[in-house]
Amino acid sequence: MSTQQLFAPIAADMQAVDAVIRRSLHSDVVLIRQVAEYIIHSGGKRLRPALVLLSAGACGYRGTHHHELAAVVEFIHTATLLHDDVVDESELRRGNKTANALFGNAASVLVGDFLYSRAFQMMVGVDDMRVMRVLADATNIIAEGEVLQLLNCHNADVGIDDYLRVIRFKTAKLFEAATQLGAILGNVGEAQEQGLTAYGMHLGTAFQIIDDVLDYSSEEAATGKHVGDDLAEGKPTLPLIFAMQRGNPEQAEFVRKAIETGGRDDFPAILEAIEQTGALAEARASARAEAQLAISALESIPPSIFKNALLELASFAVERNH
Ligand code: IPE
Ligand code: IPE
Ligand code: MG
Ligand code: MG
Repeated sequence: MSTQQLFAPIAADMQAVDAVIRRSLHSDVVLIRQVAEYIIHSGGKRLRPALVLLSAGACGYRGTHHHELAAVVEFIHTATLLHDDVVDESELRRGNKTANALFGNAASVLVGDFLYSRAFQMMVGVDDMRVMRVLADATNIIAEGEVLQLLNCHNADVGIDDYLRVIRFKTAKLFEAATQLGAILGNVGEAQEQGLTAYGMHLGTAFQIIDDVLDYSSEEAATGKHVGDDLAEGKPTLPLIFAMQRGNPEQAEFVRKAIETGGRDDFPAILEAIEQTGALAEARASARAEAQLAISALESIPPSIFKNALLELASFAVERNH
């Protein structure tokens, strides 16, 4: 199922969110508008704003703050991408040159800061202390996750728990914030809020595991990103961790060396190792298990078209190729 089909129950809201995004990008500084509009209109999937809207819908919310908060979440996501592509020295995103490749690292970092701070200006407008706490905490945790990952680069001793901690922080936390915000707006009880929060966390975890699988198994044309970037940076992601655990001593040693040295030279041989050891299939199975936990977390949420879309999103997160 495509995201367009998945988002059918919130199609009009997504347009309203786009209008908020457009309006909120305004700055008198031309370079800010150029860089921010370049990235934000470059065709992202808009998953996180959709999660705010679907969660709010599933909680029976009837106001308009969800449009603002969905835009806030997409701005935070976009700011992390601007910074992430500088850190990862990535050149391709959403099928186009990255902002850092086009405008340079300095412009990317600074416009990322602009988007973070604009997001916080918008968030304050909603004037709800719980909303502010969720977003402030999530943004802080994302930064911790990116720094933790930096520390783990080129370290082949990183285990599954270390890996999971990084992806829960850098990716799942914003998914979690998105669905929790919908529940807060809907003013539901503790159990339902917890359910939606746990759903976001597990969905985000599944989503990032698949992102890490796609870095070895996809085509540039599908993801709009360069394949093999993770290996080039010496990132110990789940496919490599499983390959070291399941492989014979030579395979394990080969993967270990590749993490320690990084670069792209070993990519074809590493690909063979993670396929032969079943590491890719095992990583996919882990993502599927997380998606299943996401689905179970929605038990206390009453039936609705919004809940159905959330359930289907869990399948999309693991079956996707982009
Ligand atoms: C990319 O997220 C960063 C990760 C957490 C893997 P998305 O795949 O949601 O990016 P866009 O917004 O659709 O481009
Ligand atoms: C995405 O991380 C950035 C954040 C979650 C903050 P990655 O570096 O793994 O994702 P891509 O592959 O560049 O989108
Ligand atoms: Mg990256
Ligand atoms: Mg990164």
